[in-house]
Amino acid sequence: MDKQQIPGVKHVLAVASGKGGVGKSTVAANLAVALARSGSRVGLLDADIYGPSQGMLMGVPQGTRPEVSDNTLQPIVAHGVQCMSMSFVASSKTPAVWRGPMASGALTQLMNQTAWQEVDVLIVDMPPGTGDIQLTLAQQAPVSGAIVVTTPQDLALLDARKGIEMFRQVHVPVFGIVENMATHTCSNCGHEEAIFGTGGGDRIAEEYEVPVLARLPLSMEFRVGDAAGVPVLNEPDGPVADAFAAMAAVVIAQLAGAAPSSGPTISIVDD
Ligand SMILES: Nc1ncnc2c1ncn2[C@@H]1O[C@H](COP(=O)(O)OP(=O)(O)OP(=O)(O)O)[C@@H](O)[C@H]1O
Ligand SMILES: [Mg+2]
Repeated sequence: MDKQQIPGVKHVLAVASGKGGVGKSTVAANLAVALARSGSRVGLLDADIYGPSQGMLMGVPQGTRPEVSDNTLQPIVAHGVQCMSMSFVASSKTPAVWRGPMASGALTQLMNQTAWQEVDVLIVDMPPGTGDIQLTLAQQAPVSGAIVVTTPQDLALLDARKGIEMFRQVHVPVFGIVENMATHTCSNCGHEEAIFGTGGGDRIAEEYEVPVLARLPLSMEFRVGDAAGVPVLNEPDGPVADAFAAMAAVVIAQLAGAAPSSGPTISIVDD
């Protein structure tokens, strides 16, 4: 299977994790907006076919449909980011009954038949796990790099390892790890606590020789405001926005040195 360049896209950056609910979509949305604010042309593809969340995170009103012309979908622009999600094209009930191959096919279509407009970085918000959808993306798309999101608990770290291993096998460089929900600061007394433990992100970073790109606090900012979950927008000068601005700078630097991944495609058998 050849990797084909996605029309209108220079680089693809996958945001992934082995485990569900660790904050991939949150990180993908905030990073997309941070990159757009820093002057890049950014696309955001919600690859979660079964449980799309970028429409909501990016504040796209429910029921918004993309325009279709010449057999391509026009991305929906929100906060300066070109967005595409299964939730823009399907009813909320349909996707749940799809089986693997159909979901992979839907992702390929969303990726290749969206009229991305000179996108420098297409951020792909991956669904949890290391199954069909993840392999489809890693095998078919020219992914330049990946960011693996994890929370500090041992169980999440175990899954993060699987995520890193998967990208390694398909020769996609892992740009770094984001440790999410790393600490919690009590809003009453200001005491900082590492609810899920400490040092986990550092341990896998060391083991795989990849940097920890950011440590994000467990914070209510992530679920308040109009654009729910995007503190980069709601508090553009806050510490979370600063962390994402720094991450955006690192990503730009790493992409500048990265060629879209090519090389032989390896078939992987799920274990
Ligand atoms: N740092 C944080 N502080 C507080 N809440 C957070 C933080 N990060 C994420 N959340 C919340 O945790 C929930 C899960 O986050 P999110 O949907 O981004 O995870 P995910 O990894 O994309 O999940 P899935 O595997 O289902 O796609 C959301 O309700 C989100 O608002
Ligand atoms: Mg998600």
